Amino acid sequence: MTVRVGVLGAGTVGGALITRLVADRDAIRLKSGVDLEVRKVAVRDLGKERPFNLPEDRLTDDSLAVVTDPAIDVIVEVIGGLEPAGDLVLAALRSGKPVVTANKELIATRGQEITEAAKRTGVSVMYEAAVGGGIPVIRPLAESLSGEDIDVVSGIVNGTTNYILTAMAKEGRAYEDALTEAQRLGYAEADPGDDVSGRDAAFKTSILASLAFGERVAPWEVETEGIENVTAEDVAAASARGEVIKLIGSARRGVDGRVEARVEPSSLPADHPLAGVSGVTNAIFIEGPSVGRLLFTGPGAGGQATASAMLGDLIQVASRGRAPRVRSAHDGTPRRQVLHR
Ligand code: HSE
Repeated sequence: MTVRVGVLGAGTVGGALITRLVADRDAIRLKSGVDLEVRKVAVRDLGKERPFNLPEDRLTDDSLAVVTDPAIDVIVEVIGGLEPAGDLVLAALRSGKPVVTANKELIATRGQEITEAAKRTGVSVMYEAAVGGGIPVIRPLAESLSGEDIDVVSGIVNGTTNYILTAMAKEGRAYEDALTEAQRLGYAEADPGDDVSGRDAAFKTSILASLAFGERVAPWEVETEGIENVTAEDVAAASARGEVIKLIGSARRGVDGRVEARVEPSSLPADHPLAGVSGVTNAIFIEGPSVGRLLFTGPGAGGQATASAMLGDLIQVASRGRAPRVRSAHDGTPRRQVLHR
């Protein structure tokens, strides 16, 4: 079975995913039973050099033509941001094409509309890569833990800021230097202001909270403070006290029953389990009365790790007979995935 894939965007994550799809096509088919063919890639600049090896006619600058192409079965969205990504994702779902996306801003902001559109045509939208890069946390939360009455979800959900804070604390590096390095390594957002302001972490916290508590927690309901005001002196003072500063996203049900979500720099004692989570690594705690404390940790950003999560989603939506049931972050309704060809 060949499943024809259309990819929207070919930046850090898209480029890494397409590289894997092209180079490992046979290995993926042998392992998963699904033959994934990259049929079209929509890019902004057709002249730009790409890391993958595809015939020239597979590249186009017309994203909508990829979405509406009847010769494409599944859409991967790695453009990022709200528009045009949102309208393209909706157009794909409305025409019965499953979508795999890494777009945390889009899922956090328009997730409800998107999951409803998917529901209407009976296809899946999967977004494992939207939180925690390569860490599998969305499906464990949405599926494996759906019977758990979760108390708290919290952790380090932005790789760039954790990289910066670690470089400042362990190597005495300057904030700007560390940020430039995080950008060079492909960790930062196109606008790194989204990382350092806590905006990116707020999107991820909104998605985790919505799944954990089975109700919508919008990104604007996440009280957010970034790391822009954390100085070298703050980091050194924390270190002298035997503490370490981390940007923590968290959500819990308050005494009034409402979900309280926030993103803020926090000074943690050295023996705190998140204190040793360094560099681009993310770590997400989930705590519930029956299961106790779970910790999901791993690379939270970067092309290859994020592409790994997207490839897993892609294989899932492309597989017949193994219909995944991914609960929406917004309506709690399980759906069967149907691949239209
Ligand atoms: N800029 C994001 C981060 C990328 O640093 O965590 C992964 O979502």
